[in-house]
Amino acid sequence: MAFQRRFLSFFIVVILSSLIVSCEMSKLEEVVKLHDHHILVEETSENDFLQQAYPSYFGMVEDGKFKGLIKERTDILSLEKVGGAPTSVKMVNVKNFGAKGDGNDDTEAFEKAWEAACSSKGGAVMVVPEGNTYLLKPIRFSGPCKSKNVIVQILGTIKASDDQSDYKKDGRHWLRFDRVAGLVVEGGGTINGNGEIWWQNSCKINKDLPCKDAPTALTFYNCKNLVVKNLNIQDSQQIHLSFERCVNVQASNLSVTAPEKSPNTDGIHVTNTQNIQISNSVIGTGDDCISIVSGSQNVQATDITCGPGHGISIGSLGAKYSEAYVSGITVNRAKLIGTTNGARIKTWQGGSGTATDITFENIEMENVANPIIIDQNYCDQKNPCSKQEKAVQVKNVLYKSISGTSASQVAIKFDCSSTFPCQGIVLQDIDLKLQGKEGEQEEAKAVCSNVKVSNIGTVSPQCY
Ligand SMILES: *[C@@H]1O[C@H](CO)[C@@H](O)[C@H](O)[C@H]1NC(C)=O
Repeated sequence: MAFQRRFLSFFIVVILSSLIVSCEMSKLEEVVKLHDHHILVEETSENDFLQQAYPSYFGMVEDGKFKGLIKERTDILSLEKVGGAPTSVKMVNVKNFGAKGDGNDDTEAFEKAWEAACSSKGGAVMVVPEGNTYLLKPIRFSGPCKSKNVIVQILGTIKASDDQSDYKKDGRHWLRFDRVAGLVVEGGGTINGNGEIWWQNSCKINKDLPCKDAPTALTFYNCKNLVVKNLNIQDSQQIHLSFERCVNVQASNLSVTAPEKSPNTDGIHVTNTQNIQISNSVIGTGDDCISIVSGSQNVQATDITCGPGHGISIGSLGAKYSEAYVSGITVNRAKLIGTTNGARIKTWQGGSGTATDITFENIEMENVANPIIIDQNYCDQKNPCSKQEKAVQVKNVLYKSISGTSASQVAIKFDCSSTFPCQGIVLQDIDLKLQGKEGEQEEAKAVCSNVKVSNIGTVSPQCY
Protein backbone atom coordinates (compact mmCIF):
# COMPACT_ATOMS: atom_id res chain seq x y z
CA MET A 1 0.00 0.00 0.00
CA ALA A 2 2.72 2.45 1.05
CA PHE A 3 4.55 1.78 -2.17
CA GLN A 4 1.40 2.24 -4.15
CA ARG A 5 0.72 5.59 -2.49
CA ARG A 6 4.21 6.81 -3.17
CA PHE A 7 3.93 5.55 -6.69
CA LEU A 8 0.62 7.34 -7.05
CA SER A 9 1.96 10.70 -5.81
CA PHE A 10 4.94 10.41 -8.09
CA PHE A 11 2.61 9.61 -10.86
CA ILE A 12 0.41 12.65 -10.18
CA VAL A 13 3.48 14.87 -10.35
CA VAL A 14 4.47 13.28 -13.62
CA ILE A 15 1.00 13.79 -15.04
CA LEU A 16 0.72 17.41 -13.85
CA SER A 17 4.09 18.34 -15.22
CA SER A 18 3.29 16.79 -18.53
CA LEU A 19 -0.25 18.03 -18.74
CA ILE A 20 0.89 21.24 -20.37
CA VAL A 21 1.34 19.29 -23.52
CA SER A 22 -1.37 19.03 -26.08
CA CYS A 23 -4.77 18.46 -24.63
CA GLU A 24 -6.85 17.98 -27.68
CA MET A 25 -10.28 18.52 -26.37
CA SER A 26 -13.30 17.36 -28.20
CA LYS A 27 -16.64 16.62 -26.70
CA LEU A 28 -15.85 13.01 -26.14
CA GLU A 29 -12.11 12.88 -26.13
CA GLU A 30 -9.24 14.30 -24.22
CA VAL A 31 -5.63 13.47 -24.78
CA VAL A 32 -3.06 13.51 -22.06
CA LYS A 33 0.50 12.94 -23.09
CA LEU A 34 2.84 11.39 -20.66
CA HIS A 35 6.56 11.80 -21.13
CA ASP A 36 7.69 9.19 -18.78
CA HIS A 37 5.51 6.20 -19.12
CA HIS A 38 8.18 3.68 -18.47
CA ILE A 39 6.94 3.38 -14.95
CA LEU A 40 3.54 2.51 -16.30
CA VAL A 41 4.15 0.09 -19.04
CA GLU A 42 6.74 -2.57 -18.79
CA GLU A 43 8.88 -3.15 -21.80
CA THR A 44 7.10 -5.70 -23.85
CA SER A 45 7.46 -7.06 -27.28
CA GLU A 46 4.78 -6.58 -29.86
CA ASN A 47 2.86 -9.66 -28.90
CA ASP A 48 3.38 -9.55 -25.20
CA PHE A 49 0.50 -9.18 -22.94
CA LEU A 50 0.19 -5.98 -20.94
CA GLN A 51 -2.08 -7.36 -18.28
CA GLN A 52 0.26 -6.28 -15.50
CA ALA A 53 0.53 -2.72 -16.67
CA TYR A 54 -2.81 -1.40 -17.70
CA PRO A 55 -5.20 -2.64 -15.03
CA SER A 56 -3.21 -1.29 -12.10
CA TYR A 57 -2.72 1.99 -13.90
CA PHE A 58 -6.35 2.44 -14.65
CA GLY A 59 -7.21 1.17 -11.25
CA MET A 60 -5.50 4.27 -9.95
CA VAL A 61 -7.30 6.47 -12.37
CA GLU A 62 -10.52 4.97 -11.17
CA ASP A 63 -9.58 5.53 -7.56
CA GLY A 64 -10.77 9.05 -8.06
CA LYS A 65 -7.53 10.98 -7.91
CA PHE A 66 -7.71 11.82 -11.55
CA LYS A 67 -11.40 12.27 -11.83
CA GLY A 68 -10.96 16.05 -11.87
CA LEU A 69 -8.24 15.89 -14.43
CA ILE A 70 -9.65 13.37 -16.75
CA LYS A 71 -13.24 13.97 -17.62
CA GLU A 72 -15.63 11.12 -17.10
CA ARG A 73 -15.87 10.81 -20.82
CA THR A 74 -14.03 8.90 -23.44
CA ASP A 75 -10.49 9.74 -22.52
CA ILE A 76 -7.40 8.90 -24.39
CA LEU A 77 -4.15 8.65 -22.57
CA SER A 78 -1.32 8.70 -24.97
CA LEU A 79 1.61 6.84 -23.57
CA GLU A 80 4.48 8.01 -25.68
CA LYS A 81 7.52 5.89 -25.86
CA VAL A 82 10.80 7.69 -26.39
CA GLY A 83 11.73 6.82 -29.93
CA GLY A 84 8.88 4.39 -30.23
CA ALA A 85 5.35 4.45 -31.50
CA PRO A 86 2.82 5.94 -29.11
CA THR A 87 0.41 3.62 -27.40
CA SER A 88 -2.91 5.20 -26.62
CA VAL A 89 -5.53 3.91 -24.29
CA LYS A 90 -9.12 4.95 -24.68
CA MET A 91 -11.48 5.10 -21.73
CA VAL A 92 -15.00 4.06 -22.64
CA ASN A 93 -17.67 4.46 -20.00
CA VAL A 94 -20.97 2.75 -20.78
CA LYS A 95 -22.77 5.71 -19.20
CA ASN A 96 -21.61 7.91 -22.03
CA PHE A 97 -23.26 5.61 -24.50
CA GLY A 98 -26.61 5.85 -22.82
CA ALA A 99 -26.49 3.15 -20.17
CA LYS A 100 -28.61 4.25 -17.23
CA GLY A 101 -28.56 1.37 -14.80
CA ASP A 102 -32.11 2.18 -13.78
CA GLY A 103 -33.75 -1.18 -14.43
CA ASN A 104 -34.44 -0.53 -18.10
CA ASP A 105 -32.63 -2.36 -20.85
CA ASP A 106 -29.07 -1.14 -21.37
CA THR A 107 -28.09 -3.60 -24.09
CA GLU A 108 -27.75 -1.08 -26.87
CA ALA A 109 -25.53 1.20 -24.83
CA PHE A 110 -23.22 -1.70 -24.01
CA GLU A 111 -23.06 -2.70 -27.66
CA LYS A 112 -22.06 0.80 -28.68
CA ALA A 113 -19.53 1.07 -25.89
CA TRP A 114 -18.00 -2.22 -26.94
CA GLU A 115 -17.74 -1.06 -30.52
CA ALA A 116 -15.88 2.05 -29.37
CA ALA A 117 -13.55 0.04 -27.16
CA CYS A 118 -12.90 -2.68 -29.69
CA SER A 119 -12.24 -0.30 -32.55
CA SER A 120 -9.81 1.95 -30.71
CA LYS A 121 -6.31 1.79 -32.14
CA GLY A 122 -4.25 1.43 -28.98
CA GLY A 123 -5.73 -0.09 -25.88
CA ALA A 124 -9.16 0.50 -24.44
CA VAL A 125 -10.86 0.31 -21.09
CA MET A 126 -14.59 -0.20 -21.09
CA VAL A 127 -15.93 0.82 -17.71
CA VAL A 128 -19.13 -0.35 -16.11
CA PRO A 129 -19.41 2.08 -13.21
CA GLU A 130 -20.03 1.29 -9.61
CA GLY A 131 -23.31 1.76 -7.83
CA ASN A 132 -25.75 0.78 -10.56
CA THR A 133 -27.29 -2.38 -11.93
CA TYR A 134 -27.33 -2.62 -15.69
CA LEU A 135 -29.94 -4.86 -17.23
CA LEU A 136 -28.81 -6.71 -20.34
CA LYS A 137 -30.32 -9.03 -22.91
CA PRO A 138 -28.03 -11.55 -24.60
CA ILE A 139 -25.09 -9.66 -26.01
CA ARG A 140 -22.06 -10.57 -28.04
CA PHE A 141 -18.81 -8.70 -27.64
CA SER A 142 -17.10 -9.67 -30.86
CA GLY A 143 -13.55 -9.33 -32.03
CA PRO A 144 -11.12 -9.30 -33.51
CA CYS A 145 -10.52 -5.85 -32.08
CA LYS A 146 -8.32 -3.13 -33.50
CA SER A 147 -7.19 -2.45 -29.95
CA LYS A 148 -4.21 -4.39 -28.75
CA ASN A 149 -5.68 -4.80 -25.30
CA VAL A 150 -9.21 -4.33 -24.18
CA ILE A 151 -9.94 -4.15 -20.50
CA VAL A 152 -13.51 -4.52 -19.39
CA GLN A 153 -13.74 -3.12 -15.93
CA ILE A 154 -16.93 -4.16 -14.20
CA LEU A 155 -17.31 -2.15 -11.03
CA GLY A 156 -21.09 -2.19 -10.79
CA THR A 157 -23.58 -4.98 -11.41
CA ILE A 158 -24.68 -6.47 -14.70
CA LYS A 159 -27.95 -8.36 -14.52
CA ALA A 160 -29.55 -10.63 -17.10
CA SER A 161 -32.98 -10.07 -18.54
CA ASP A 162 -35.24 -12.83 -17.27
CA ASP A 163 -37.64 -12.53 -20.18
CA GLN A 164 -37.02 -15.83 -21.91
CA SER A 165 -38.24 -14.46 -25.25
CA ASP A 166 -35.14 -12.25 -25.31
CA TYR A 167 -33.09 -15.41 -25.79
CA LYS A 168 -34.86 -16.65 -28.91
CA LYS A 169 -31.99 -15.97 -31.28
CA ASP A 170 -29.38 -17.70 -29.14
CA GLY A 171 -30.64 -19.66 -26.20
CA ARG A 172 -27.21 -20.77 -25.05
CA HIS A 173 -25.39 -17.56 -24.24
CA TRP A 174 -26.02 -14.41 -22.28
CA LEU A 175 -22.73 -12.49 -22.25
CA ARG A 176 -20.37 -13.77 -24.88
CA PHE A 177 -16.90 -12.56 -25.83
CA ASP A 178 -15.79 -13.82 -29.22
CA ARG A 179 -12.35 -13.85 -30.79
CA VAL A 180 -10.85 -11.13 -28.63
CA ALA A 181 -7.11 -11.31 -28.05
CA GLY A 182 -5.51 -9.77 -24.98
CA LEU A 183 -8.78 -9.24 -23.18
CA VAL A 184 -8.96 -8.50 -19.46
CA VAL A 185 -12.26 -8.66 -17.61
CA GLU A 186 -12.06 -7.56 -14.00
CA GLY A 187 -13.19 -4.91 -11.58
CA GLY A 188 -14.71 -6.40 -8.43
CA GLY A 189 -18.27 -6.03 -9.70
CA THR A 190 -21.03 -8.56 -10.13
CA ILE A 191 -22.45 -10.51 -13.02
CA ASN A 192 -25.89 -11.78 -12.12
CA GLY A 193 -27.55 -14.32 -14.42
CA ASN A 194 -30.91 -13.87 -12.71
CA GLY A 195 -31.48 -17.56 -13.38
CA GLU A 196 -34.53 -18.37 -11.25
CA ILE A 197 -36.93 -18.53 -14.22
CA TRP A 198 -34.66 -20.97 -16.03
CA TRP A 199 -34.28 -23.19 -12.99
CA GLN A 200 -38.04 -23.41 -12.51
CA ASN A 201 -38.43 -24.48 -16.13
CA SER A 202 -35.64 -27.04 -16.05
CA CYS A 203 -36.60 -30.65 -16.67
CA LYS A 204 -34.59 -31.51 -13.59
CA ILE A 205 -36.92 -29.47 -11.41
CA ASN A 206 -40.19 -29.91 -13.32
CA LYS A 207 -40.13 -33.47 -14.69
CA ASP A 208 -43.02 -32.79 -17.09
CA LEU A 209 -41.02 -30.30 -19.10
CA PRO A 210 -38.67 -31.23 -21.95
CA CYS A 211 -34.93 -30.91 -21.29
CA LYS A 212 -33.62 -27.76 -22.91
CA ASP A 213 -30.40 -25.79 -22.79
CA ALA A 214 -30.33 -22.59 -20.83
CA PRO A 215 -27.87 -19.76 -21.35
CA THR A 216 -24.35 -19.70 -19.98
CA ALA A 217 -23.89 -16.41 -18.15
CA LEU A 218 -20.40 -15.57 -19.33
CA THR A 219 -18.73 -17.26 -22.29
CA PHE A 220 -15.28 -16.67 -23.69
CA TYR A 221 -15.04 -18.15 -27.13
CA ASN A 222 -11.87 -18.26 -29.17
CA CYS A 223 -10.03 -15.84 -26.90
CA LYS A 224 -6.26 -15.75 -26.69
CA ASN A 225 -4.25 -14.32 -23.80
CA LEU A 226 -7.25 -13.78 -21.61
CA VAL A 227 -7.42 -12.63 -18.00
CA VAL A 228 -10.60 -12.86 -15.96
CA LYS A 229 -10.26 -11.82 -12.35
CA ASN A 230 -11.81 -10.17 -9.31
CA LEU A 231 -15.42 -10.78 -10.18
CA ASN A 232 -18.56 -12.12 -8.57
CA ILE A 233 -20.61 -14.27 -10.84
CA GLN A 234 -23.91 -15.45 -9.48
CA ASP A 235 -27.23 -17.15 -10.15
CA SER A 236 -26.51 -18.08 -13.72
CA GLN A 237 -29.23 -19.46 -15.95
CA GLN A 238 -27.03 -22.53 -16.39
CA ILE A 239 -23.19 -22.65 -16.56
CA HIS A 240 -21.71 -19.55 -14.91
CA LEU A 241 -18.41 -19.13 -16.70
CA SER A 242 -17.29 -21.02 -19.78
CA PHE A 243 -13.99 -21.01 -21.63
CA GLU A 244 -14.32 -22.47 -25.10
CA ARG A 245 -11.54 -22.77 -27.69
CA CYS A 246 -9.38 -20.35 -25.72
CA VAL A 247 -5.59 -20.36 -25.42
CA ASN A 248 -3.60 -18.92 -22.49
CA VAL A 249 -6.13 -18.04 -19.85
CA GLN A 250 -5.73 -16.80 -16.31
CA ALA A 251 -8.86 -16.87 -14.21
CA SER A 252 -8.41 -15.82 -10.61
CA ASN A 253 -10.07 -14.43 -7.54
CA LEU A 254 -13.55 -15.30 -8.71
CA SER A 255 -16.54 -15.87 -6.54
CA VAL A 256 -19.15 -18.03 -8.21
CA THR A 257 -22.37 -18.69 -6.36
CA ALA A 258 -25.82 -20.11 -6.96
CA PRO A 259 -28.25 -22.08 -4.80
CA GLU A 260 -27.45 -25.75 -4.22
CA LYS A 261 -30.76 -26.70 -5.84
CA SER A 262 -30.24 -24.73 -9.05
CA PRO A 263 -29.94 -27.27 -11.90
CA ASN A 264 -26.90 -27.49 -14.21
CA THR A 265 -25.34 -24.35 -12.85
CA ASP A 266 -21.71 -25.43 -13.25
CA GLY A 267 -19.26 -22.93 -11.85
CA ILE A 268 -16.42 -22.88 -14.36
CA HIS A 269 -16.53 -24.93 -17.53
CA VAL A 270 -13.45 -25.54 -19.66
CA THR A 271 -13.80 -26.98 -23.13
CA ASN A 272 -11.32 -27.20 -26.01
CA THR A 273 -9.05 -24.84 -24.16
CA GLN A 274 -5.28 -24.98 -23.76
CA ASN A 275 -3.08 -23.47 -21.05
CA ILE A 276 -5.53 -22.27 -18.48
CA GLN A 277 -4.92 -21.46 -14.85
CA ILE A 278 -7.82 -21.11 -12.51
CA SER A 279 -6.77 -19.93 -9.08
CA ASN A 280 -7.89 -18.45 -5.77
CA SER A 281 -11.55 -18.89 -6.38
CA VAL A 282 -14.56 -19.83 -4.32
CA ILE A 283 -17.29 -21.72 -6.10
CA GLY A 284 -20.59 -22.92 -4.69
CA THR A 285 -23.37 -23.83 -7.11
CA GLY A 286 -25.92 -26.49 -8.01
CA ASP A 287 -23.64 -28.48 -10.32
CA ASP A 288 -19.93 -29.05 -10.96
CA CYS A 289 -17.63 -26.60 -9.29
CA ILE A 290 -15.21 -26.90 -12.20
CA SER A 291 -15.85 -29.12 -15.21
CA ILE A 292 -13.13 -29.84 -17.72
CA VAL A 293 -14.20 -31.48 -20.93
CA SER A 294 -12.97 -32.58 -24.31
CA GLY A 295 -10.14 -30.83 -26.09
CA SER A 296 -8.74 -29.33 -22.91
CA GLN A 297 -5.04 -29.51 -22.31
CA ASN A 298 -2.75 -28.12 -19.65
CA VAL A 299 -5.35 -27.05 -17.16
CA GLN A 300 -4.31 -26.02 -13.66
CA ALA A 301 -6.77 -25.34 -10.90
CA THR A 302 -5.09 -24.07 -7.75
CA ASP A 303 -6.45 -22.86 -4.41
CA ILE A 304 -10.07 -23.58 -5.11
CA THR A 305 -12.82 -23.85 -2.53
CA CYS A 306 -15.92 -25.73 -3.62
CA GLY A 307 -19.30 -26.32 -2.12
CA PRO A 308 -22.11 -26.82 -2.35
CA GLY A 309 -22.16 -28.56 -5.71
CA HIS A 310 -20.97 -31.65 -7.52
CA GLY A 311 -17.24 -31.19 -7.06
CA ILE A 312 -14.37 -30.93 -9.52
CA SER A 313 -15.01 -32.98 -12.61
CA ILE A 314 -13.08 -34.11 -15.59
CA GLY A 315 -15.85 -34.92 -18.01
CA SER A 316 -18.28 -35.93 -18.78
CA LEU A 317 -16.41 -37.38 -21.75
CA GLY A 318 -17.54 -39.55 -24.63
CA ALA A 319 -21.25 -38.77 -24.58
CA LYS A 320 -23.19 -39.95 -27.66
CA TYR A 321 -20.29 -42.13 -28.86
CA SER A 322 -18.03 -39.11 -29.21
CA GLU A 323 -14.24 -39.03 -29.22
CA ALA A 324 -12.74 -37.10 -26.34
CA TYR A 325 -9.23 -36.09 -25.38
CA VAL A 326 -8.08 -34.34 -22.24
CA SER A 327 -4.57 -34.28 -20.81
CA GLY A 328 -2.29 -32.43 -18.46
CA ILE A 329 -4.77 -31.53 -15.78
CA THR A 330 -3.66 -30.61 -12.28
CA VAL A 331 -5.87 -29.75 -9.36
CA ASN A 332 -3.68 -28.56 -6.52
CA ARG A 333 -4.76 -27.22 -3.13
CA ALA A 334 -8.50 -27.50 -3.10
CA LYS A 335 -11.04 -27.71 -0.35
CA LEU A 336 -14.36 -29.37 -1.00
CA ILE A 337 -17.14 -28.92 1.50
CA GLY A 338 -20.38 -30.86 1.39
CA THR A 339 -20.17 -31.63 -2.30
CA THR A 340 -21.59 -34.77 -3.91
CA ASN A 341 -18.20 -35.59 -5.47
CA GLY A 342 -14.66 -34.56 -4.81
CA ALA A 343 -12.12 -35.43 -7.47
CA ARG A 344 -14.15 -36.99 -10.26
CA ILE A 345 -13.51 -38.37 -13.71
CA LYS A 346 -16.71 -39.30 -15.55
CA THR A 347 -17.08 -40.91 -18.95
CA TRP A 348 -20.01 -42.35 -20.86
CA GLN A 349 -19.95 -45.86 -22.24
CA GLY A 350 -19.48 -46.04 -26.00
CA GLY A 351 -17.13 -43.07 -26.27
CA SER A 352 -13.49 -43.18 -27.29
CA GLY A 353 -10.29 -41.22 -26.84
CA THR A 354 -8.20 -40.65 -23.73
CA ALA A 355 -8.09 -38.84 -20.42
CA THR A 356 -4.44 -38.85 -19.36
CA ASP A 357 -1.86 -37.24 -17.11
CA ILE A 358 -4.16 -36.03 -14.41
CA THR A 359 -3.12 -35.05 -10.89
CA PHE A 360 -5.29 -34.29 -7.91
CA GLU A 361 -3.11 -33.20 -4.99
CA ASN A 362 -3.35 -31.49 -1.61
CA ILE A 363 -7.07 -31.77 -1.39
CA GLU A 364 -9.16 -31.55 1.73
CA MET A 365 -12.54 -33.21 1.73
CA GLU A 366 -15.19 -32.29 4.24
CA ASN A 367 -18.32 -34.40 4.23
CA VAL A 368 -18.03 -35.20 0.51
CA ALA A 369 -20.27 -38.00 -0.75
CA ASN A 370 -17.77 -39.48 -3.27
CA PRO A 371 -14.37 -37.98 -2.47
CA ILE A 372 -12.41 -39.90 -5.13
CA ILE A 373 -14.31 -41.33 -8.05
CA ILE A 374 -13.72 -42.56 -11.59
CA ASP A 375 -17.08 -43.34 -13.12
CA GLN A 376 -16.87 -44.92 -16.56
CA ASN A 377 -20.54 -45.76 -16.46
CA TYR A 378 -21.71 -42.22 -16.21
CA CYS A 379 -25.26 -41.84 -17.48
CA ASP A 380 -27.03 -38.52 -17.09
CA GLN A 381 -30.21 -39.05 -19.09
CA LYS A 382 -33.78 -40.10 -18.55
CA ASN A 383 -33.40 -43.59 -20.08
CA PRO A 384 -30.85 -46.04 -18.72
CA CYS A 385 -27.62 -46.34 -20.74
CA SER A 386 -27.11 -49.69 -22.44
CA LYS A 387 -23.89 -51.65 -22.18
CA GLN A 388 -21.19 -50.61 -24.68
CA GLU A 389 -17.77 -52.03 -25.51
CA LYS A 390 -15.98 -48.81 -26.25
CA ALA A 391 -14.80 -46.36 -23.62
CA VAL A 392 -12.59 -43.34 -23.13
CA GLN A 393 -9.25 -44.67 -21.88
CA VAL A 394 -8.37 -43.28 -18.44
CA LYS A 395 -4.63 -43.36 -17.91
CA ASN A 396 -1.98 -41.97 -15.53
CA VAL A 397 -3.95 -40.44 -12.73
CA LEU A 398 -2.21 -39.47 -9.50
CA TYR A 399 -4.13 -38.80 -6.30
CA LYS A 400 -1.72 -37.37 -3.77
CA SER A 401 -2.19 -35.99 -0.25
CA ILE A 402 -5.92 -36.21 -0.09
CA SER A 403 -7.54 -36.28 3.32
CA GLY A 404 -10.74 -35.58 5.15
CA THR A 405 -14.17 -37.06 5.47
CA SER A 406 -16.54 -38.95 3.23
CA ALA A 407 -20.29 -38.57 3.64
CA SER A 408 -20.82 -42.06 2.21
CA GLN A 409 -19.09 -45.28 3.10
CA VAL A 410 -17.44 -45.57 -0.30
CA ALA A 411 -14.72 -42.94 -0.10
CA ILE A 412 -12.89 -44.23 -3.17
CA LYS A 413 -14.70 -45.61 -6.16
CA PHE A 414 -12.97 -46.73 -9.33
CA ASP A 415 -15.67 -47.99 -11.65
CA CYS A 416 -13.57 -48.52 -14.76
CA SER A 417 -14.44 -49.97 -18.14
CA SER A 418 -14.00 -53.74 -18.49
CA THR A 419 -12.82 -53.40 -22.08
CA PHE A 420 -10.53 -50.42 -21.40
CA PRO A 421 -9.43 -50.81 -17.76
CA CYS A 422 -7.97 -47.76 -16.03
CA GLN A 423 -4.18 -47.67 -16.25
CA GLY A 424 -1.50 -46.03 -14.15
CA ILE A 425 -3.70 -45.12 -11.22
CA VAL A 426 -1.64 -44.07 -8.18
CA LEU A 427 -2.84 -43.33 -4.67
CA GLN A 428 -0.28 -41.59 -2.51
CA ASP A 429 -0.81 -40.44 1.08
CA ILE A 430 -4.55 -40.80 1.23
CA ASP A 431 -6.45 -40.52 4.48
CA LEU A 432 -10.20 -40.55 4.07
CA LYS A 433 -12.55 -41.36 6.92
CA LEU A 434 -16.25 -41.82 7.12
CA GLN A 435 -17.89 -38.64 8.38
CA GLY A 436 -18.40 -39.34 12.07
CA LYS A 437 -21.87 -40.16 13.21
CA GLU A 438 -22.54 -40.66 16.89
CA GLY A 439 -22.20 -44.34 17.80
CA GLU A 440 -21.20 -45.60 14.37
CA GLN A 441 -18.02 -47.57 13.99
CA GLU A 442 -18.04 -48.19 10.24
CA GLU A 443 -14.98 -47.41 8.23
CA ALA A 444 -14.66 -45.80 4.85
CA LYS A 445 -13.92 -48.20 2.03
CA ALA A 446 -12.70 -48.35 -1.55
CA VAL A 447 -14.66 -50.09 -4.30
CA CYS A 448 -12.53 -50.79 -7.33
CA SER A 449 -13.23 -52.58 -10.58
CA ASN A 450 -11.13 -52.99 -13.73
CA VAL A 451 -8.23 -51.10 -12.27
CA LYS A 452 -4.82 -51.87 -10.82
CA VAL A 453 -3.88 -49.29 -8.24
CA SER A 454 -0.37 -48.49 -7.01
CA ASN A 455 -0.28 -47.34 -3.42
CA ILE A 456 2.51 -45.08 -2.19
CA GLY A 457 2.94 -43.98 1.42
CA THR A 458 -0.02 -44.41 3.71
CA VAL A 459 -3.20 -45.08 1.82
CA SER A 460 -6.52 -45.50 3.54
CA PRO A 461 -8.89 -46.91 2.46
CA GLN A 462 -7.34 -49.25 -0.11
CA CYS A 463 -8.66 -51.29 -3.01
CA TYR A 464 -8.56 -55.05 -2.45
C1 LIG B 1 -10.52 -10.17 -5.17
O1 LIG B 1 -11.68 -9.57 -5.73
C2 LIG B 1 -12.38 -8.72 -4.86
C3 LIG B 1 -13.59 -8.20 -5.60
O2 LIG B 1 -14.31 -9.21 -6.22
C4 LIG B 1 -11.49 -7.57 -4.41
O3 LIG B 1 -12.16 -6.76 -3.49
C5 LIG B 1 -10.21 -8.14 -3.79
O4 LIG B 1 -9.34 -7.09 -3.50
C6 LIG B 1 -9.54 -9.09 -4.75
N1 LIG B 1 -8.39 -9.70 -4.11
C7 LIG B 1 -7.19 -9.72 -4.68
C8 LIG B 1 -6.12 -10.42 -3.92
O5 LIG B 1 -6.96 -9.22 -5.75
